[in-house]
This record gives sequence, structure tokens and C-alpha cells, in this order.
Amino acid sequence: MAKIFFKRCEETFEIEMPEGTKVVHAAYKLKLPEVPANCRGKCQCGTCHVHVDPEWVDKIEPMEVDTMELFLLKRQKSYNPELSRLSCQIRIKDEYDGLTLSLVEDNIPRN
Ligand code: FES
Repeated sequence: MAKIFFKRCEETFEIEMPEGTKVVHAAYKLKLPEVPANCRGKCQCGTCHVHVDPEWVDKIEPMEVDTMELFLLKRQKSYNPELSRLSCQIRIKDEYDGLTLSLVEDNIPRN
């Protein structure tokens, strides 16, 4: 199990997740509007974009080069080459306990 934290300005949301699940699953459970995850984790939409806390960037599995993940991230308004990841592409490990991500507002559904 690993405790995952999502930060939104001054608010922090936390949830414990089993190893093998993905960060996007944590966002679903918390019903975070910043992560609509429209393609349901199939790496086709980019709407599960998050920023990884700088302290964690080098501790999680890196993004592979020339992937669909990078293609989709580059289309995101708040793309940050150092911090951006698709949460559906981060598989949780027990050693990710404390993993902290910041929510971005690019994909909040507007009425
Ligand atoms: S949920 Fe669509 S790319 Fe991650």
C-alpha cells in the first residue's frame, strides 16, 4: 500500500492505494474534477495530466521516450517538461508511499 497525495492550491487530498493500481485510479476514487480521465486510462486523451512534486520526479518510473504519453502531454496547456505526467501511466508501488502530485486545471469540465 502507498499513500498518495494530490495538492490543489492550499488543499491536499490523500488516499491509500494498493501496489499495482495506477495514480489515475486514486484520482477517480477521490472524484477530483481536475482528472476527468476521459479515455478511462487508455492513454488516448491526456485528461489525466498531473504535475509530479519535484521531490518525487526522480523516484518514480520515468516516462519512456517518444511515447503517446509525451505526445499527449505536449498538447496540454500547463505542460511542464520537468513535472508533467499522465496519471494513467504511473503504476503505484509500495515504495511510492508519500507520492505527491499537483492538480492542474487544464481539463476541468466547464458548463
Ligand atoms: S486517462 Fe486518458 S490519457 Fe490517461
